Parts: sequence; structure tokens; C-alpha cells
Amino acid sequence: MKKVATGWFVLIGSAVGVFALGLLASSITERRSEQAFSRVQFMKPIKEWESDNAVWGASFPREYNSWEATKNDATLTKYGGSGFRDYLKERPSLVLMWAGYAFAKEYNAPRGHYHAANDVQETGRRNETTPATCWTCKSPDVPRLMAKDGPNEFYKQKFDHYAGEVKNTIGCADCHNNETMQLQISRPALKEAFDRMGKDITKATHQEMRSLVCAQCHVEYYFKGKEEKYLTFPWDDGMKAEDMEKYYDRVGHVDWTHAISGAKMIKMQHPDYEVFQQGVHAYRGVSCADCHMPYKSEGGIKFTDHQVRSPLENIANSCQVCHKWSEDEIRGRVEGMQTSHLQMLAAVEETITKLHLEIGDAIKIGATDADLEKSRGLVSKAQMYWDYVAANNGMGFHAPQETARVLNKALKFASEGRLETQLLRAKRGVLDPVQLPDYSTKELAQAYIKPFVDAQKAKTAEPPKKVAAK
Ligand code: HEC
Ligand code: HEC
Ligand code: HEC
Ligand code: HEC
Repeated sequence: MKKVATGWFVLIGSAVGVFALGLLASSITERRSEQAFSRVQFMKPIKEWESDNAVWGASFPREYNSWEATKNDATLTKYGGSGFRDYLKERPSLVLMWAGYAFAKEYNAPRGHYHAANDVQETGRRNETTPATCWTCKSPDVPRLMAKDGPNEFYKQKFDHYAGEVKNTIGCADCHNNETMQLQISRPALKEAFDRMGKDITKATHQEMRSLVCAQCHVEYYFKGKEEKYLTFPWDDGMKAEDMEKYYDRVGHVDWTHAISGAKMIKMQHPDYEVFQQGVHAYRGVSCADCHMPYKSEGGIKFTDHQVRSPLENIANSCQVCHKWSEDEIRGRVEGMQTSHLQMLAAVEETITKLHLEIGDAIKIGATDADLEKSRGLVSKAQMYWDYVAANNGMGFHAPQETARVLNKALKFASEGRLETQLLRAKRGVLDPVQLPDYSTKELAQAYIKPFVDAQKAKTAEPPKKVAAK
């Protein structure tokens, strides 16, 4: 009898224990929903489309002060963090890969949200033809201006048209409702992409919203229409590299023609949300905010840390909430994953760069557009797959297995392209490998592509107008 009772006791005891553990686990993600907005109190009402962060800050000083800390840009980590990092200098083959496109001139690592509105104005990639669409991800003045002019008109304008109007950098109105402080989507492109996928974004869960607010900007996009420049996410077929390839093929979108190989190219832009979806953290319901905006305590008050930054600067609050590994171990694990990732990226970059140069050489020895169709198709595809990974932030951490898979495909396409191109050259009697130029520094690489870019510009410039005969 006694024995049986102990058995029951152990059984019930462990059942309660397991239940409590379960509660604890689910609370990791759900406790935030209960707490975040229940206690918000406004000192003063905030009007609709209020874009001045300081006005919001008057009611929410802790969130405001931590938001302001995104100004700090002296915190480089091994591969990320905030601070100046010139990717073209670190990886000069990028200059050749983007020959004929503005990215070959300048491409630096991102900084904190505090700098966004300023950095977009100062980039060497911008000129008087830049559309207003480029403001979309930089400022809470954008939803205000879209409400005034409508998204169609907004996108159609030139960047400079709104230069005097955009005064605030990424902030409160980008993610929050002015009356309830609930998270909300302020940009039409994300909502429209959901609509086209047959999904209703207003049905998103609270935990999903903690990533979707970021997906307004940290995604792949393109400007649809020569005049319209309508900001569009290529998600109709899904969010994997293959899905985007299918989409761009169908709509016939091309970003530029490569100045050396003459291939029609697509430039991917930071598909952070899409790549993240393929990883284990997304699979287990972890959101962007869990790692990039963890809880913080000040004077016994818990609030969301708005210093959106590299989680490696804040391992205790971001990772260690869920992982009971030491800080050193966590950092070492992440950097190890990133180092392997960089090795894969570099191998693919080298192969694609050689392929552009080999196609360039084939053109020189007389290969026609028809001859080159297959090689050019392969180099475009390889580079699009590579860029889906390369342009995504986090150096492979967000979804290591998926990014390795996509890079492997890129390498396969590029290798097939090289074989194809060598055969073309062999058919014209050239068996020696192409003499590679020295592109070991950014400056050498930029000097090498210059004649190709100039020749391309001269070719596409308008023919001189005929002088009417008298
Ligand atoms: C499980 C934690 C985790 C989640 C969830 C997560 N990230 Fe990250 N993220 C990281 C780590 C780790 C890095 C690498 C930071 C570094 O190298 O310093 C990173 C890097 C980044 C960077 C580059 C920052 C830098 O300092 O270089 C951006 C941008 C980013 N993540 C955006 C996102 C977005 C958007 C989401 C959601 C779609 C997301 N992250 C989800 C952990 C996470
Ligand atoms: C309105 C557009 C927008 C939204 C919304 C947005 N970001 Fe950003 N984010 C940017 C831009 C633009 C930059 C680069 C700014 C620069 O370099 O000047 C950036 C930079 C970053 C960085 C790099 C910071 C660093 O220190 O290097 C991280 C990390 C990041 N964002 C994560 C997130 C996360 C997580 C969310 C959602 C909680 C989010 N962002 C929401 C546009 C946005
Ligand atoms: C990139 C998106 C983003 C921006 C920009 C942003 N927030 Fe938040 N904010 C969040 C997220 C995510 C949460 C957590 C909400 C949750 O889990 O329910 C949050 C929570 C809050 C809360 C609820 C209390 C808390 O701390 O959890 C307040 C208040 C708040 N933010 C104020 C602000 C203010 C003020 C600004 C501008 C200075 C701002 N936020 C800018 C995303 C953002
Ligand atoms: C909200 C909880 C949560 C946070 C915060 C979190 N993780 Fe995780 N992490 C998970 C879960 C859940 C898994 C999947 C583990 C499993 O299912 O066995 C995981 C898995 C991992 C793995 C194994 C990945 C793989 O591919 O097998 C690594 C490495 C990792 N996390 C690192 C980090 C780092 C670094 C941070 C901080 C930047 C972090 N995690 C933040 C919940 C979290």
C-alpha cells in the first residue's frame, strides 16, 4: 500500500513538474504578449502620423532612450555589429560581380536605425534620378507622406522631391499604433505581398508581429514599372531562392546588364526575413525581436530594449534567456558558423567572377549573343542565388543549412557556366585559360571595370540627334 502511494506521488509529482516546465517554455515566447501593452500610459495623446520620435519619447522615456542608443556605432563584432565596414574593400571581387551597377561604387555594412535617414542621403549610389521609393525604409515620415499623397504618387516622385519633408529616422510610428501602442504595419508593400499570397496580415499573431514589423524593410524587393517604381516584394511563389527566381522570370524583371559578360542581372536586397523563415529559430516560433529587442530591466522595471543591434553585443539578455550556455561558448558557436559561411561565400564569389571574365573573353574572340545565351543564363542564375545569401544579414547565422544549400546551387550553376564557356572558346581554337586581371584590391578592381562600364554607357547613350537638312 505504501509503495503504491509513493508511486502515485512520484507520477503526479512529475506530471506537475512536466506541466510547469511546459508552461515555462511557452511563457518564453508568450509572456511578452501579456505584459507589453497592458501598462502603457500616455503623458499626452499622440496624433495620427506623428513622425517625431521625441514626441512619443515624452510618454515612453525608457523605450525612447534605448532607441536613441542605436546611434552608437563603435561596436563592431567579428562579422557584424555597428561601425564602418567597406565590403568592397574586404571582398574586391564584388566590384567585378556588380560591374555596370551602382553597388560596384560603394557598399558598406549597415548601421543602427538612428543613422538610416542620413545614410541614404549620403550613399554614393544615389543621384538625381533616384526615385522616392528609396525613402520607404528609412523614416516614419514615409507613412505620413503616403497618407497625404497616396503610395502611387509617393513612389512616382524623385527622391529629392521629399528631401525637405523627411526629417526623422526610423522610429516609433514605423512599428506602433499612436493610440494603443500595439504593433502595426505601416508600409503598404508588406500588406500587399500578403494579400497576393492570399493571407490576411491583420490575422497575424502577436508573436508573428514581432517579426513582421521588421519584414516591412528587412526583405528582398524591387521597383515595379519604369515610371511607377512601385515597391513590390517578389513573394507570390514563396520566399525561397527558387520561388523568387520563378517570380522574376515570369514578370521579366532585370536590374541591369553586366558590363563585362553582357548577362541580364538581378540584385537581391537583404532578404533577412525570408532567409530567417528557413531556419530553426523561426521553425520554433522565435521572433526577430526575441534576439534583437530583448527585455531589459531598469530600476526594477522591465521593458523592451529598443537598441536594435547585433545580439552578440548583448548575449546575456538575448540568447541566454533560452540557452544556458556560457557567453564565450555562444559567441564562439556563432562566429564558427559565420566563418564557415564566409568560406563558402568566397568560393562562390571567385567562381562567378571568373565566369564573368571568361564570358568577356569569349565575346572578344567573336562569340555571338546566340552562342552565349546559355553561359549568360547560368551566370545570372548563379549570381542571383549567391546574392540571396550574400545580401542577407547575419553572415549565415539565421538559417545556416538553407544558406549552404543555396550557395551550393549557385556554385553548381557557375561551374556549369564555366564549362560551357570554355567549350565556346575551344570551338574558336582557344584552349588556354583566360588570363585573369589583378583585382586584389577595391581600387584595382574598380580601375579594371571602368573601360567596360564606359563602353557600355557610350553604347546605351542616346544617338546624336540628326541635324535637319536645310
Ligand atoms: C536567434 C536569434 C536571432 C533571431 C531570432 C534573429 N536574429 Fe538577426 N542576428 C542574430 C545574430 C547572432 C546575428 C549576427 C550578429 C553579428 O555577427 O554581430 C544577427 C544579425 C542580424 C543583422 C545584421 C546585424 C549586424 O550587426 O551585422 C540583421 C539586420 C538582422 N540580424 C536582422 C534580423 C531580422 C530582420 C530577424 C527576423 C526576421 C532576425 N534578425 C532574427 C540573431 C538573430
Ligand atoms: C522602416 C524600415 C525598417 C524597419 C521597420 C526595421 N529596420 Fe532594421 N534597418 C533598416 C535600415 C535602413 C537599416 C540600415 C541603417 C543604416 O545603415 O543607416 C537597418 C539596420 C538594422 C540592423 C543593423 C544595426 C547595426 O547596428 O548594424 C539591425 C540588427 C536591424 N536593422 C534589425 C531590425 C529588426 C530586428 C527590426 C524589427 C524589430 C527592424 N530592424 C526593423 C530598416 C528597418
Ligand atoms: C522596429 C520596430 C519598433 C520601433 C521602431 C519602435 N518599437 Fe516599440 N516595440 C517594438 C516591439 C517589437 C515591442 C515589443 C512588443 C511586444 O512584444 O508586444 C515594442 C514595445 C514597445 C512598448 C511597450 C512596452 C515595452 O517596453 O515592451 C512601448 C511603450 C514602445 N515600444 C515604445 C516605443 C517608442 C517610444 C518608440 C520610438 C522611440 C518605439 N517603441 C519604436 C517595436 C518597435
Ligand atoms: C526565445 C528562445 C530563443 C532565443 C532567444 C535564442 N534561441 Fe537559439 N534556439 C532556440 C530553439 C527553440 C532552438 C532549437 C533547438 C531545438 O529545437 O532543439 C535553438 C537552436 C539554436 C542553435 C542550434 C541551431 C541549429 O541549427 O541546430 C544555436 C546555435 C542557437 N540556437 C544559438 C542562439 C543564439 C546565438 C542566440 C542569441 C543571438 C539564440 N540562439 C537565441 C531558442 C532560442
